[in-house]
Amino acid sequence: MTSISKVARKPGSDVPRDAGEPADLEFARELLRGLRQREKAIPCRFLYDRRGSELFEQITELPEYYPTRTETKILESCVSEIRSSTPTGSLLVEFGSGSSTKTEILLSALDRLAGYVPIDISPSALEEAKERLSTRFPELSIFPVAGDFSASMTLPTEFIGTPKLGFFPGSTIGNLETAEAEHLLTNMRDILGASSRLVIGADLRKDQDVLLAAYNDAQGVTAAFNLNLLTRANRDLKANFDLSRFEHLATYDPDRGRIDMNLVSKIDQTVNVLGHEITFSKGERIHTEHSHKYEIEGFRDLARRAGWTPNRFWTDDRSYFSVHELHNPT
Ligand code: SAH
Ligand code: AVI
Repeated sequence: MTSISKVARKPGSDVPRDAGEPADLEFARELLRGLRQREKAIPCRFLYDRRGSELFEQITELPEYYPTRTETKILESCVSEIRSSTPTGSLLVEFGSGSSTKTEILLSALDRLAGYVPIDISPSALEEAKERLSTRFPELSIFPVAGDFSASMTLPTEFIGTPKLGFFPGSTIGNLETAEAEHLLTNMRDILGASSRLVIGADLRKDQDVLLAAYNDAQGVTAAFNLNLLTRANRDLKANFDLSRFEHLATYDPDRGRIDMNLVSKIDQTVNVLGHEITFSKGERIHTEHSHKYEIEGFRDLARRAGWTPNRFWTDDRSYFSVHELHNPT
């Protein structure tokens, strides 16, 4: 169990890391495990090193990447309703906070928060967000945590009686398999405690041309984000991937309502990872990310299975994206 109040400090960093395994060791273990499977795969949380977080921020600005702009507009229009059901002095806990840009909409509207706990796997994203928010909201106490939001963790004991508001924007929930997503939502209920609420973004099913364009942008930023996984493996684990021999592929499966991101080997080749020879045949894929798209009722059912009571939800004019307010009854 990791306690947010008892977290290890990463050398040279202002942001405490959770007390789990060091990031490089975990990456080494997961990369080797994933590349030695019959169907090769790397967990998507490893996309977010410093460069990966920067590239994701560039993705959010792309003309084809509608989710960020759409969710931001929804949040701006529903924030007064969120405010009316948030007790003064609540603790705001955000999962996968990244640059905390959308958070500013909540921070500007909510009254005298007890504090803000951004949780993210990317220490560099947390550091930059903390610096910016400390300037814009000097009264706000910020307790960043660098770690995996799927791990079990407890909030500092000083916040035991404090009302909690969870925030999980971006449809990051969609990057998990359905069973993992249910498990994460259950874990969030445990972290936030009885009577808490969770405001969560979920991307919706739509015309597949719109979806495919969002993950195959014309400028190639999504391709660079995907290929950066191999740059990270070369840098951190002394692997010898030749990036010119792999290419980005994003496909959409309309039956599952899911985008799949892959890196495809352009030729037959062998790569060395930590002294292990990994062979690829031409056309072989490494799966790097799922991005599930939901129906409103399907998403509310998922929340119910994890023990949450769905309350209100908001969408945009085109029904491209949804923001849900969930309540923890127990
Ligand atoms: N919430 C932001 C960022 C979304 S990108 C937005 O809505 O724009 C997804 C974020 O989740 C990244 O910042 C990434 O570093 C973080 N992340 C991905 N997997 C994670 C995990 N398992 N644990 C903690 N953070 C994770
Ligand atoms: C963070 N997450 C919800 C993004 C998504 O759309 O699935 C990550 C991403 N992958 C490629 N583009 C953006």
